[in-house]
Amino acid sequence: KIIVLDFGSQYNQLITRRIREFGVYSELHAHTITAQELKDLNATGIIFSGGPNSVYDDNAFKIDEAIFELGLPILGICYGMQLMSHTLGGKVEKAAHREYGKAEINVLEENALFANTPKEQVVWMSHGDLVTETPEGFTTIATSASCPIAAMANPERKFYAVQFHPEVRHSVYGNDLLRHFALDICGCKGDWSMANFIEIEIEKIRAQVGDKQVLCALSGGVDSSVVAVLIHKAIGDQLTCMFVDHNLNRKGEVEQVMKTFTEDFDMNLIKIDARDRFMNKLKGVSDPEQKRKIIGNEFIYVFDEESAKLKDMDFLAQGTLYTDIIESGTATAQTIKSHHNVGGLPEDMKFELIEPLNTLFKDEVRALGLELGLPEAVVWRQPFPGPGLGIRVLGEVTEEKLEIVRDADFILREEIKKAGLDRDIWQYFCVLPDIRSVGVMGDGRTYDYAIGIRGVTSIDGMTSDWARIPYDVLEKISVRIVNEVDHVNRVLYDITSKPPATIEWE
Ligand code: XMP
Repeated sequence: KIIVLDFGSQYNQLITRRIREFGVYSELHAHTITAQELKDLNATGIIFSGGPNSVYDDNAFKIDEAIFELGLPILGICYGMQLMSHTLGGKVEKAAHREYGKAEINVLEENALFANTPKEQVVWMSHGDLVTETPEGFTTIATSASCPIAAMANPERKFYAVQFHPEVRHSVYGNDLLRHFALDICGCKGDWSMANFIEIEIEKIRAQVGDKQVLCALSGGVDSSVVAVLIHKAIGDQLTCMFVDHNLNRKGEVEQVMKTFTEDFDMNLIKIDARDRFMNKLKGVSDPEQKRKIIGNEFIYVFDEESAKLKDMDFLAQGTLYTDIIESGTATAQTIKSHHNVGGLPEDMKFELIEPLNTLFKDEVRALGLELGLPEAVVWRQPFPGPGLGIRVLGEVTEEKLEIVRDADFILREEIKKAGLDRDIWQYFCVLPDIRSVGVMGDGRTYDYAIGIRGVTSIDGMTSDWARIPYDVLEKISVRIVNEVDHVNRVLYDITSKPPATIEWE
């Protein structure tokens, strides 16, 4: 097990993730951890992450110096290198220029960290300070033009340090370095898998919860589904799930959620029928932001009221991912849309939170879901906004319009799947713009709605391009929608990227 100590770099969880990819279990811990605690965790190696501080700042992050006496291999990255040097008697100074971006380093001597990688390699630098003198027992093992001591090592003590960020993809051989550290230097076996993660988490959940009760708000999305099943595996009937039907889900979704969790997994699941409540609140409202707020708030009210009826709930389980933490932690951007996640809950909650996925990335959560036996349809569900179809019916949300968009969307999903494109397109859905146009059907004039199709490719939803769905697939979708969905006589395909558009229309 390799423990990564957190000194505040935005990349720190990426380090644990890379290590786990080599089949070595890794966890991130606060830098305040003591040597004894590290011993109790059975660590086989330690990594000091980067961080925004300078070792000379008044409030610079320090560590328990006894950590250096544990006899464990240590890899320092960026600030971690400076801290190692500073603590062990080397010298750290302010660089003449802050260095940020790609740099080329030269490896100076054979060593375990850089084994079998080229003498010259491109790395990713991001630092203001640098080590100008190595501590006793260390040698410089790599150098670059602006950073003479780009990496240093004390092989006897198995201490290694690099000024650049090996965990970032731009460091071309960074992954090799981390692997060498984990497998060769620390001697980890590399036989860890998601199955082990489940075992470890189950133990943690049991220890945290004891004989108390846990409540989980299930949305049907990947994250809340995986969290519910994982916790259920740990504590069985001490878990109660709640699913709020706000009438804004896609066709067949409520039924699927009920079937998966009550039948396949035999879990306690309470369905709250709040359809009328949401529809009443949305009556006459057509402004997108107002709709989002109403839906988000109403969800909280319903959840609050209903959870108060359940007695003795101590914990609230949430499917928070690592990326959710980063994004909300660094949210300096302007609010384009007030995002809401089903599960975005009141601040003055009486529950203690339990968030077992908060060290994982999305693809790891999917792997975990499959390992737990969740169906592919759940594990590979495309992103779906918290406000659901409420923001895919443009303008006022009515029962009639919801039905139109639900039926059209169902056809779209069916045809995309038939064409084998469902894994290639990040997100695809129908929207119902608030317009009508003239058409002709049979011999009669029609004056009906248009359906907009949105299909996008994206890595993370932050930017996207419109998906090049083949014309013949689009044709099938269009013909079926107009023929099978009442009150639709026209189909549009949205060919705008994000930016300048957003993925959703509202
Ligand atoms: P936009 O429309 O902002 O969407 O380009 C980016 C991604 O986020 C999803 N989305 C949401 N997800 N709550 C969510 O959990 C929300 O309120 C919300 N609004 C948009 C959208 O589907 C896309 O994947």
